Amino acid sequence: MSFNIAIDGPAGAGKSTIAKMIAKKLGYIYVDTGAMYRAMALYLLREKIDPSDTERINAKCEEADISIGYENGEQIVYLNGENVNSLIRTEEVGNMASVSSPNPNVRKKLVKLQQKLAASKDVVMDGRDIGTCVLPHAQVKVYLTADSRVRAGRRYKELTQKGVSCDIDTIEKDIIERDHQDMTREISPLMQAEDATLVDSSYMSIDEVVDAVIALM
Ligand code: DC
Repeated sequence: MSFNIAIDGPAGAGKSTIAKMIAKKLGYIYVDTGAMYRAMALYLLREKIDPSDTERINAKCEEADISIGYENGEQIVYLNGENVNSLIRTEEVGNMASVSSPNPNVRKKLVKLQQKLAASKDVVMDGRDIGTCVLPHAQVKVYLTADSRVRAGRRYKELTQKGVSCDIDTIEKDIIERDHQDMTREISPLMQAEDATLVDSSYMSIDEVVDAVIALM
C-alpha cells in the first residue's frame, strides 16, 4: 500500500516549499495539484473561453489531456503533450484557475488523476481539498497556515528580490480576498479536515515545519 501525505492550506502558507522538501527527504513523489488547475486554466484561456461561461468550461475541459511527469525530481505538467511549466505561473493563468477550479467537471477530472497517482505511489500532495476530498484516507494530513500579514511579507520579499516594486498592504488585501474566495466556494472549499493537524508556520523556520510534519509519521 502506498503512503500518502496530504498538505492543504491557503495560498502563501509555504505548502509547496515544505511538500517538496519532505518528498525529497523521504524519497516520495511531490504532487502539486495547483499546477494541474493552472494547466487547465491555460487551456481554457487558449480556447478563449469566457470565465463566467460554466457550460462551455464543462464541455471544453473534457478536451484537455493533463498529465504529469518528473525530470530531475521536478514535476512537469503536460497539457495535451506539451510541457507547460513555464507558462502557468502568470497572474492571468492564476486568475483563470481561481475561476475555473470550482467547476465540477474540472474537479472531477483532475481529482481522478490525483487519486490514481496516489494509489500507486508514495506521495506528498499539496492543494486545498487533498485531506478532505482527494485523499480522505491519507496517513498524514496537515493543514498548513500562517498569519495573512506574515504571508504578505513573504510574498513582498519574494517580489522585491526579483526587482518587482509592490505594496505590502495591497498584497495582504489580495491574500485575504483569495482566502475568503477559497473558503466560501460551494464545491470543495478550503477547510481543515477533521483529522488533520494544524501547523501555523507564522513564526517557524522551514526546517521546523518540515520536522513537525515528519514527526507526525
Ligand atoms: O496553489 P495554486 O495557486 O497554484 O492553485 C491554483 C488555483 O487552483 C487556486 O485558485 C486554487 C485552485 N486549487 C484548487 O481548487 N484545488 C487544489 N487542490 C489546488 C488548487
